[in-house]
Amino acid sequence: MKKSVLITPGDGIGPEVTREAVKVLNACARLAGLTLSLEEAPIGGAAIEAAGNPLPPEVLNKALAADAVLLGAVGGPRWDKLPMVQRPEKGLLAIREGLGLFANLRPAKIYGDMAGASTLKPEVVDGADLMVVRELTGGIYFGQPRGITEKDGRREGFNTMRYNETEIERIARVGFQTAMRRHKRLVSVDKANVLEVSALWREVVTAMAPEFPEVTLEHMYVDNAAMQIIRAPKRIDTLVTGNLFGDILSDAAAMITGSIGMLPSASLGEGRGLYEPVHGSAPDIAGLDLANPLATILSVGMMFRYSFDLPAEDDRINRAVSAVLAKHRTEDIMASGKTPVGCARMGDLVVEALERG
Ligand code: IPM
Ligand code: MG
Repeated sequence: MKKSVLITPGDGIGPEVTREAVKVLNACARLAGLTLSLEEAPIGGAAIEAAGNPLPPEVLNKALAADAVLLGAVGGPRWDKLPMVQRPEKGLLAIREGLGLFANLRPAKIYGDMAGASTLKPEVVDGADLMVVRELTGGIYFGQPRGITEKDGRREGFNTMRYNETEIERIARVGFQTAMRRHKRLVSVDKANVLEVSALWREVVTAMAPEFPEVTLEHMYVDNAAMQIIRAPKRIDTLVTGNLFGDILSDAAAMITGSIGMLPSASLGEGRGLYEPVHGSAPDIAGLDLANPLATILSVGMMFRYSFDLPAEDDRINRAVSAVLAKHRTEDIMASGKTPVGCARMGDLVVEALERG
C-alpha cells in the first residue's frame, strides 16, 4: 500500500512537534509495510512570509492531492496586528473549509499513569476517556453576515451563528456513529434555552435518535457541559457539538489529561483527513526543545486509523506512548519520579518503544 502525506508544520512549536511526529509516521509505516511519500508546504505565518497568503492556493492544491495532511500549529505575535482575513489562523480555517473537513474528532483520555498530571483530582480523571465531535466548517466561525461597521457614530462588531438541517444532520451522524464504536452514549451540546440555532440543532439530533436505537442520547446546555467535563469526566463518552462550543469544550477536556500537549485531533470530511494537535503554536517556548510532541504523534495514530484504515497502528502508537510516559515526561506533564526530556528525545523514545513492540 502507498500513501501520500502533506506535512504543513506552520509556526511556533509547529515545526518541532511535526518533526517528531514524522519520525513516528515513518517508523510506523515501516512496521506496517506502508510506502509513504511525504511533501512539506508552509501554512499560517510561515506561508505569509513565504507567499504573502496564510494558505497559498498551491498549498491547498497539494493538500487536495494528498491522502492525508499532518499540520503543526499556526499563529504568533508577529502576525497579531494583521487584519482578520490575513491572519495565520485564516490559513487553518481555509484548509478546513477547502478540504470540506466538517467533522473534528478530539479524544481526551488518560494515557498510562498520567492521572497525577491533571490539575483535577486523580480519582476524578483516572480512567477518563471521552471523545469530542466538533462541527468544523460551519456555525459562527463561518456564518455570514459578519464584520465591523459604523453605527450611530460608534463601531459595532457582529457575527452570525447559523446551521442548516443538513449540516446538523451530517455532524450528528458522525456523533452517533462514533458513539456506536465506543460506549454507545452520546451527549449533544447546545444552548437551546437561548439560541434558535440551538433549538433547531436539538430538534434535528432528537429526530435522528431512532436510527441509532442502541445509542443513549442526552442533551446538555453548553454551560452545564463545561461544568460536567470538569466535575465528572468519566460520565461522558461521546459529545457532539457545534464549532464554537466544540472549540471551547475541547480545551476544557484537555485538562483531564493534564496538558493540552496530549490532545490529538482528526478532521474528516468526505475524502482525505487532516491531523493536528489541539494545542496552538506556543510562541513562548518555540525553538527551545520544550514542547510536548505527543499530541501530534497521537494525531499520526489517528491518521493510520481514519485515513489509512489501519487501526492496529493507532493502537500500536497509543501503546508506545503509554510505555514511554511510564518513565519519561516533557515539562508540561512532569511528575516526581519521572525523567524530564525535551521534544526531540520524546519523539525518539516513542520510535524506540514502537520498534520494541
Ligand atoms: C483549534 C484552534 C483554532 C480554532 C484556531 C487557531 C483558529 O483554537 O483548532 O481549536 O479556533 O478552531
Ligand atoms: Mg481551540
